[in-house]
Amino acid sequence: MTKLMDARNISIEFGGLKALNNFNMEINSGELVGLIGPNGAGKTTAFNVLTGIYQPSSGEYELFGEVIKNRKPYQLVESGLARTFQNIRLFKHLSVLQNVRVPQNNSMTYSIGAGMFRTKNYWKEENEYNKRALDILKIFEMDHLAEYEATSLPYGEQRKLEIARAMASNPKILLLDEPAAGMNPKETEELMKTIRFIRDEFGIAILLIEHDMKMVLGICERLVVLDMGNIIAEGDPMEVVNDKNVIKAYLGTGDE
Ligand SMILES: Nc1ncnc2c1ncn2[C@@H]1O[C@H](COP(=O)(O)OP(=O)(O)O)[C@@H](O)[C@H]1O
Ligand SMILES: [Mg+2]
Repeated sequence: MTKLMDARNISIEFGGLKALNNFNMEINSGELVGLIGPNGAGKTTAFNVLTGIYQPSSGEYELFGEVIKNRKPYQLVESGLARTFQNIRLFKHLSVLQNVRVPQNNSMTYSIGAGMFRTKNYWKEENEYNKRALDILKIFEMDHLAEYEATSLPYGEQRKLEIARAMASNPKILLLDEPAAGMNPKETEELMKTIRFIRDEFGIAILLIEHDMKMVLGICERLVVLDMGNIIAEGDPMEVVNDKNVIKAYLGTGDE
C-alpha cells in the first residue's frame, strides 16, 4: 500500500472559530475512507484545505510524496487530486459531454492556430477527447445523455455527472462532498455501486463525506469522525458508529 496523502496536525481558524483543530488524514492507494460528523463539524473545511482552496494556519501536508505549501487548487488537480462540491457546480449551459471534457482542456497539444482554422490535428484531438469523455460517461451509464444540457438532467444524474467530470482529470484520489445529498434511495443505491466500481476498476482512492449512514457503512472501509473541528473517533466503521462519543455528537446537534 502506497501512502498517497498525509495531512498532519492541520488547523485553520475563521475569526476565532477553530474550524479544524489538529486534523490528521492519511490516505493510501485504493482506500475507500469516510469522513463523517454533524453539520458544521469541519468536513468541507477539511476538503477545502486538502484541495488548496484554504491555506491552513498550521500543520504539514504531503500529497503523492511531495510537501505541499501554498499550492493552487488547479496544481493539485493536475497532480492527481480531484473533488466534487457539496453544492452542484456544473457548467449549466454546456452539454453533458462538454462538462466532462472541460477538465481535459489544459492537456491539449494542438496550437491555437490549429483550433482557429480547424486543421486535421485539431479534429484528431477533438475526436480523441470526445471519445474519452464518452468512455467516462459510459461508466456512469450516462453516454446516451451526452448531448443534453447539464441542467436539463434530473438531480441525481447531475450529481453523477459531477463525479464523471472529476474523473476526467485522471485522479489518483477523489474527494466526494455529500454526493448522495438529495438523492432518493434508489439513486443512492446506484451511486454506491458506481463509487465502489470506480475504486475497484481504476484503483482510485476515495474520501467520502456523507450523511447517509447506509451508504457510509455500505462502502467505507475506515471512518474518521469530526465534531467541532476535532477528530473524535476513527477506524473500523461499525466500531466507530457505536462509539459513545460519536453517538453523543450526533444526538447533541438535533439535526441528524
Ligand atoms: N469561509 C468561511 N468563513 C467563516 N466560517 C466558515 C467558513 N467555512 C466554514 N466556516 C465555519 O466552519 C465550521 C465548519 O464548517 P464546514 O466545514 O462547512 O462544516 P461541515 O462540512 O462539516 O458541515 C462552521 O462553523 C462554518 O460556519
Ligand atoms: Mg459540508
